[in-house]
Amino acid sequence: MSERLQDRVAVITGAGSGIGLASARRMAAEGAKVVCADIDERAGRSAAEEVGGLFVRADVSVEAEVAALYEAAVAAYGSVDIAFNNAGISPPEDDSILTTGLEAWRRVQEVNLTSVYLCCKYAITQMRRQGKGSVINTASFVAVMGAATSQISYTASKGGVLAMSRELGVQFAREGIRVNALCPGPVNTPLLRELFAKDPERAARRLVHIPLGRFAEPEEIAAAVAFLASDDSSFMTASQFLVDGGISGAYVTPQ
Ligand SMILES: NC(=O)c1ccc[n+]([C@@H]2O[C@H](COP(=O)([O-])OP(=O)(O)OC[C@H]3O[C@@H](n4cnc5c(N)ncnc54)[C@H](O)[C@@H]3O)[C@@H](O)[C@H]2O)c1
Repeated sequence: MSERLQDRVAVITGAGSGIGLASARRMAAEGAKVVCADIDERAGRSAAEEVGGLFVRADVSVEAEVAALYEAAVAAYGSVDIAFNNAGISPPEDDSILTTGLEAWRRVQEVNLTSVYLCCKYAITQMRRQGKGSVINTASFVAVMGAATSQISYTASKGGVLAMSRELGVQFAREGIRVNALCPGPVNTPLLRELFAKDPERAARRLVHIPLGRFAEPEEIAAAVAFLASDDSSFMTASQFLVDGGISGAYVTPQ
């Protein structure tokens, strides 16, 4: 493994599972000091122990907890070079607009979109002091494509993450801070497996549209995150970085 991230400090939200966990492992393997944030104390702590990093319990939809997370990172390691704002939810109550209630809508907006606003606010404030940094916000391929199998608040939240990342990337480009939106296709993680368990037929409909004919493994997304975090992507900012198995480019897929 190369050492592109040697001694960089990375704060990862939702580091206890799925894409966040795979990214914590990957960034640590590339030399980063990793701060693992999660609302799930057991999972987050175990991730931090595994990568030799720091665990901070935080609900990313609560401003005081996000502020404390970045304070803890700076207190422990002196800087925040990489912010991977990745925590997100996809609850079953978020479905068609016809059946999704306001409470479910708001909860998803809070955890998926307001959280990214809060994390960017505190991460970028610290990065401006340093004069450098890389922010990666997890959006989704559904930020750029519509699905008939709707999760209306989730999709709207990811569209918001994409637009916000673009604007922040432009605003802070000349201060040495890069902001990119990562748009994964469907990934084989607990979040997706939950969806499959709930309605296998509906979930299987998704596979048909992926040219590569399978879901991504979290490690494949983590490789893209490490690239965006590193200086290898030094000329990239304000981008929508699709890692989607070809789904957004497809009209008719191979059999
Ligand atoms: N899995 C997919 O197919 C897929 C595709 C595109 C985008 N995404 C996005 O990638 C991100 C990670 O997804 P995943 O599949 O790895 O999910 P996951 O459920 O495996 O992991 C999410 C982690 O976030 C944590 N979390 C949830 N709410 C939190 C909160 N309020 N505060 C702090 N931590 C919280 C959970 O405890 C969990 O450890 C999400 O933003 C998701 O929307 C996932």
